[in-house]
Amino acid sequence: MGRFTVCDHPLIQHKVTFLRDKHTDTKQFRELVDELSTLMAYEVTRDIPLETVTVETPVAKAEGKVVAGRMLGLIPILRAGLGMVEGMLKLLPSAKVGHIGLYRDPETLKPVEYYFSVPSDVTERELIVLDPMLATGGSANAAIAALKKRGCRPTKLVCLIAAPEGVKAVQEAHPDIDIYVAALDQYLNDHGYIVPGLGDAGDRLYGTK
Ligand code: PRP
Ligand code: URA
Repeated sequence: MGRFTVCDHPLIQHKVTFLRDKHTDTKQFRELVDELSTLMAYEVTRDIPLETVTVETPVAKAEGKVVAGRMLGLIPILRAGLGMVEGMLKLLPSAKVGHIGLYRDPETLKPVEYYFSVPSDVTERELIVLDPMLATGGSANAAIAALKKRGCRPTKLVCLIAAPEGVKAVQEAHPDIDIYVAALDQYLNDHGYIVPGLGDAGDRLYGTK
């Protein structure tokens, strides 16, 4: 079973509270998603391998650690996952970015794929799937399956708010994936919304609805 981590750093908890607040406007919401994504990148990269190098200080030689040249890819699920890309890239500037377009049918709550585009060397990269919301888990599961079907290697799913139902669904369908969330909420309501959640992440990011 992959790891499940709630990234509960105080700064993350602080920003999630303002993200939830219905009085937070679109500009502030986008900024918070961006900042949270950078903080999450810090937690998500805690296990990346290092290698030892030697540098010369003005005084003497020093052994130090640098990130071993690991190839990473970021895969935001459109639309809302897009809001997480720039914040992640601040700490992972060499990562390449692919996109998967999925929307949740409002009646069935099942994901519908409408776009798939990934960098040409994607099969050589370890992929991190991004979506602020993990509700039923249908979208995340479909995105991970779409990547695996094309020979890609997704290893991590990073979300801001998750429902227990979504975490369980991903763990069951893809036990090889490590899941990172900023907050684990209570349950899903009858419309598939996370309670208390933050409402519709795409609408709040882009001012639609
Ligand atoms: C939202 C969200 C996730 C999905 C989560 O997207 O960004 O992709 O719902 O729900 P699930 O876990 O039940 O699949 P939505 O379908 O509203 O599309 P949008 O990002 O284009 O608004
Ligand atoms: N998608 C969202 O944007 N919000 C939810 O609460 C559930 C799915």
